[in-house]
Formats: sequence, structure tokens, C-alpha cells
Amino acid sequence: MDKIVIEGGRRLEGEIRIAGAKNAALPALAATLLCPGRFAFSNVPDLKDVDTMTELLKVMGADVKKEGGGVVTVDTENLTADCEAPYDLVRTMRASCLVLGPLLARLGRSRLSLPGGCAIGERPINLHLKGFQTLGAEISLEEGYVNASAPDGLSGRKVYFDLVTVTGTENLMMAAVGAKGTTILENAAKEPEVVFLAEMLNKMGADVRWAGTDRMVIVGGKELRPAEISIIPDRVETGTFMAAAAITGGHLRLAGCNPSHVEAVTLKFAEMGCKVAEGRDWLEITGPKRPQPADVETNPYPSFPTDMQAQAMAVLALADGASVVTESIFENRYMHVAEMWRMGANITLKGKNAFVHGVEKLSGAQVMATDLRASASLVVAGLAASGKTRVRRVYHLDRGYEHIEEKLRKVGAKIFRQRDKNPK
Ligand code: EPZ
Repeated sequence: MDKIVIEGGRRLEGEIRIAGAKNAALPALAATLLCPGRFAFSNVPDLKDVDTMTELLKVMGADVKKEGGGVVTVDTENLTADCEAPYDLVRTMRASCLVLGPLLARLGRSRLSLPGGCAIGERPINLHLKGFQTLGAEISLEEGYVNASAPDGLSGRKVYFDLVTVTGTENLMMAAVGAKGTTILENAAKEPEVVFLAEMLNKMGADVRWAGTDRMVIVGGKELRPAEISIIPDRVETGTFMAAAAITGGHLRLAGCNPSHVEAVTLKFAEMGCKVAEGRDWLEITGPKRPQPADVETNPYPSFPTDMQAQAMAVLALADGASVVTESIFENRYMHVAEMWRMGANITLKGKNAFVHGVEKLSGAQVMATDLRASASLVVAGLAASGKTRVRRVYHLDRGYEHIEEKLRKVGAKIFRQRDKNPK
């Protein structure tokens, strides 16, 4: 296992190119199961989670080629008979559940190991399964696997999500394109990654309407064909580097991003005293001498994203005053707080609220990454902390950030990766 070592206290200055979005690439790769043929993707990020999804497609018989330079081709002409998503792959990445919808649509059946919980919460997929049942699928659970089958095919219906679920919306979109008739998704997620998936499905010949609103309409049964598409930029990577500029009082230009996907984040960093300029596909952010306090509440898009909560908290930990952070999406997404305490942060947890009393400085320490975005927040905190911060178990980081230490080193951070001799 590796660890990342950061010598903090350096102001970042320069340009970073933003990679393709992990959470857009994963559903797009799963959508290749919907019909036979050769798909071509560009701007695919080089991430562990993307490798896990391509591994899963290969296990199902797809021919996947990483052509280099962010190009990945997937040929799903010949899928294996069983098309099962095995426990060993699913337990490392919950988004494997995204194969359920397309396999149900194409084959009328799918079998997936239940993903199990993860550090940020139990993260059930009950709403996915309830949606499939509404479209006529039979669902059974045995030995930790979920079996979904629709021997007579799926039928378009109205699906109502009890709460907003991103991958639940994406799974039902993919199932609905294979259903006879029209499906309505009520209380659908509106994330840019959902809109991107709709764009890909429509390029494949599907008829998905009103993506980006909370009431999506899918006219099923269309003839589908493979597509070529470029993955949209990663808004969470964008926000994470914005936090790096904010916490170091630096100046970063983020190239190849989509500022319209990070409006809530930009406004929040402006509230903390950052100056932000933006163009069609770039954003420049200058951090303040010391951040101002700001209250943050996470909610579904277009509100402030839960995937940016930990990174924002790292900045607020050094603010000139007190802030309240409220995590409304996941029940256990404060794993980074105990690690920040080790760096001298003054944060009090009360249920879904975190009271962040800004301190003058953070000090470097040995800290442990627990989930993807928590580890990113510890890197952000380490950039500003005095002395050395060692972030261990950085495999969490590698799941969702493309060569983060190289990108940060390029703009002046003193950061490098080291083999962790004592990974316990
Ligand atoms: C997606 O996860 C993202 N992952 C997450 O990003 C992101 O944090 C999350 O959406 C919220 O924005 C991908 O897109 C691959 P949800 P997802 O279903 O779809 C509950 C990252 O760091 N729920 O929108 O799994 C659930 O427990 C990752 O990149 C049910 O109760 O999240 C949670 O409390 C982390 N039953 C809430 O809904 C269900 O059937 C929102 O979850 C489904 C969800």
C-alpha cells in the first residue's frame, strides 16, 4: 500500500487540466451492455474504479481496450451466458450495481452480488430494485446475490423514487430504454452525470426526455446501436482543486472543466473569500489570505454536493470564525473529522451537523484515508498544514483522482507518493 507525504504551507500557482468524470464514465461503460457492437469513449479518466468497471465488462464477455490518451473501446457483441457480477468485483465498487438495468433490458435477467455497505453508509439499492419491479421484473435475493428477471420483457410504467438516487435513476433509465412503452421517472436525480447518460442513450437511438429535471420520460423499445462519446469533465475533481487554491491562498486555473456544473461550489468558495473568474471550459480561482466561515449543507444537485463536503470542511477548519456543515445525503460521511482533529482542527459533531470552529493553523500528522472524498480532504488539509502530513491507505484516493500528486506538484505543492512499509 502507498501513502502520500505532503510538506504543507506552500501557495499553489498554475494550471491543472481536469480529467473526465468518474461518475459519468461508470454508467456510460455499463450502458454498453444495452446492445451489441463497438462503443468508443474519449476523455476517460485513468482511475481504479474505471478499471474495476471495465474488468466487470470483460468478465461478462465484453472486449475492452484501453487505447491510451483517455480512449477506451468496448465491444459487447458476445456476452457470456450467465453475465453475473461477482462478489469480488462488486465489493470493491458499489457502482457495479449499474449493470443490473442494462442486462435486464437486453437479456431479461441479471445477477449481482449485493454491494454491501461502505465507509460512508449502508447504501442500499432497494429503490433500484423497487423500480425494476415496477417495470415488471421479478427480484429474488439468495446467498448475498440479487437475481432480477423479466422473462416476458419489461413494460413502461411510472416509477416514483422515495428519495433522490443518482445511480438508481441511471439504472432505471437504462432498464426503461429496453421496456415496451413509456416510463416516467418521478423525483429523478438531476446530476450532470445523469444528463450525460441521457445524452449517450439518445446517441444510441433511445428516446430519453427531460433529463436534468425531476420528471424524466423514456419512450422504450427503440432500436439501439453503439455510440461514440466524450466523457464530461469531473466536477468533483474541479471542486477539490478549488479547495486546494482556497486553503493555500493560491491561484489556480482549471482547464477543461465545466463551470456550470460547479455553481453551488463556486458560490460557496466565493462566500469563503475566494475570487472566481470563469469561461466556457475554464475557471480561475484565487484563495484569500485566510478563509471566511460559511455554512454548508449538502443536498442533491444543483445544491452543494455531498462529494465536496469533506474538502470544504478542510478549508473551513482554517476559517476566521465558525461554520456549520450539514451532511444530508449520507448517514456516516464524517470519517475525515477524527483525522482532522489529529491535525489540530476544532470540529464538534452533533448528528448530521458538524460545528467547525476555525483555527489559526493546522499541523501535519499521520492520518488515515477511509473513503475517496475523505482522503481528498486530508490531502487538501495537508497542503496548508505546517510540517509533514502523511495520508495512508491512498488506494481510496486512486479510485477517484487521476494522478492527484502529480497534478498538485505541477502547481507548486511539495507532495509525493511513498511505499507504506507499515500499512496497518
Ligand atoms: C452516487 O452514489 C455517486 N456515485 C456518489 O459518489 C455520490 O456521493 C452520490 O451519488 C450522491 O450524490 C456514483 O455516481 C458512482 P445515491 P449513489 O443513490 O448513487 C440512499 C463518490 O465519491 N439510497 O444518490 O450510490 C443512499 O443510502 C461517490 O464519487 C437508498 O436509501 O448515491 C443515500 O443516503 C460516493 N436506497 C442517498 O439515497 C437506494 O436504493 C443518496 O444515494 C439508493 C440510495
